[in-house]
Amino acid sequence: MSEKKSSSQELQSPKGMRDLMGDEYYRFQGFFEKAQEIAVYYGFQPIETPTLENEEVFLKGVGEGTDVVDKEMYTIKTKGGDKLVMKPENTASLMRAYLEHGMLSQPQPVYMYGYGPRFRHDKPQKGRYRQFYQFDLDIIGKTGAVLDATIIEVAMLILKEAGVPNPMIKINSIGDKDSRKEYIKHLTNYYKKHISDLGAIDRARLKTNPMRILDSKDPKTIEINIDAPQSLNYLNSESKKHFKEVIEYLDECGINYEIDHTLVRGLDYYSQTVFEFFTPAKEEGEKMIALGGGGRYDYLAKIIGSKKDIPAVGCAFGVDRILDVATESLDPKIKKEPKVFFIQLGFEAKLKSFQIIEILRKRKIPVKHSLSKDNLSSQLSIAEKLEVPYTIIFGQKEAMDGTVIIRDMKTRSQDIVKLTDLAEYTKKMK
Ligand code: HAM
Repeated sequence: MSEKKSSSQELQSPKGMRDLMGDEYYRFQGFFEKAQEIAVYYGFQPIETPTLENEEVFLKGVGEGTDVVDKEMYTIKTKGGDKLVMKPENTASLMRAYLEHGMLSQPQPVYMYGYGPRFRHDKPQKGRYRQFYQFDLDIIGKTGAVLDATIIEVAMLILKEAGVPNPMIKINSIGDKDSRKEYIKHLTNYYKKHISDLGAIDRARLKTNPMRILDSKDPKTIEINIDAPQSLNYLNSESKKHFKEVIEYLDECGINYEIDHTLVRGLDYYSQTVFEFFTPAKEEGEKMIALGGGGRYDYLAKIIGSKKDIPAVGCAFGVDRILDVATESLDPKIKKEPKVFFIQLGFEAKLKSFQIIEILRKRKIPVKHSLSKDNLSSQLSIAEKLEVPYTIIFGQKEAMDGTVIIRDMKTRSQDIVKLTDLAEYTKKMK
């Protein structure tokens, strides 16, 4: 029998999910604004897919046998019996949207960005939440190393402008279908030779998805992985050429990269180029922090129901992690420091308060107030605490005369200004 929760427990947000507010809220908004701005200048257009998606999209797209699908999905059974999933990632949804809206008839490729909450039922810990936020960049409809390079270049610009210290990428190629088939054959043979040293999870992976063993956290497997066959050695000439060109672009753009033979990514849909974005650990002895990841996913469209393959490449950032390591914070446009504290005294004045606040809003002057308060000293003390440069005092007399008193909080000088002149007067307020 489950224990009855105490009322304080009931009043907590669900485990691994948190309220975003105050400065943290502004930092998220500031990041989203900056990332969108950069994306838009590089020709990406916005798209937001629903928070819920048919389960099938992820079962097929991300793949059974991956952690995301096997362990981490929040699946909801609707009253009508449909199975919907709280989006654990955006790529499968994006491809669904591309196909559903016939975007193939638009000029190709289609550049898209999107952001929002994602949900994974993982063990919450530092940098790992059950509700977290991603910013995605994707280019769907054409292949070509220049498109992989576009994603990486734009992503790197975003990381730099967000104040991430020393961002770098680890990159690898797992090749196209043919190369991958060849590689998996050799990889499977290799692991079969070491099967007695593999743990239960990795043995199961040998049957479902041997490349995932390269991602293993098991210390014994990590040792076995040192000599495992490397995908780059099994690329056919086309895949080799593609990867070589991507690297040439990275050199040309001066991007800090490292080729990592063990990088295969935890989602099934990737082919060819795969990469992850990192920043160095904050403290010695800790691992580098993965801020985002992505790659090519040329076969995803067909996996989720398209008649033909549609080449695509993209990445997603973990915004929570970026903001945790960023050394500067970007102020969003909606963050406004109050310039004026508005004080009203007496019912006549209170009645007309909105007229004055509205004159100021139209002049783009952010105002704080405490309209439920009645006396001067309590309102003045809030104004002092907020350190606003000006207060506007509006009492019974001013309400009758159609004037306001404007006090410069620094010099303590005051002006009496007609309401009809207030908009003009604000030009003088520094
Ligand atoms: P992913 O590697 O699963 O890729 O996630 C991308 C990033 O999201 C990770 O590098 C990490 O920073 C962040 N992240 C993942 N799980 C959590 C979590 N539980 N808490 C906090 N942050 C987390 C994808 O999701 C692909 N859809 C990327 C992509 C886009 N590929 C092509 N287009």
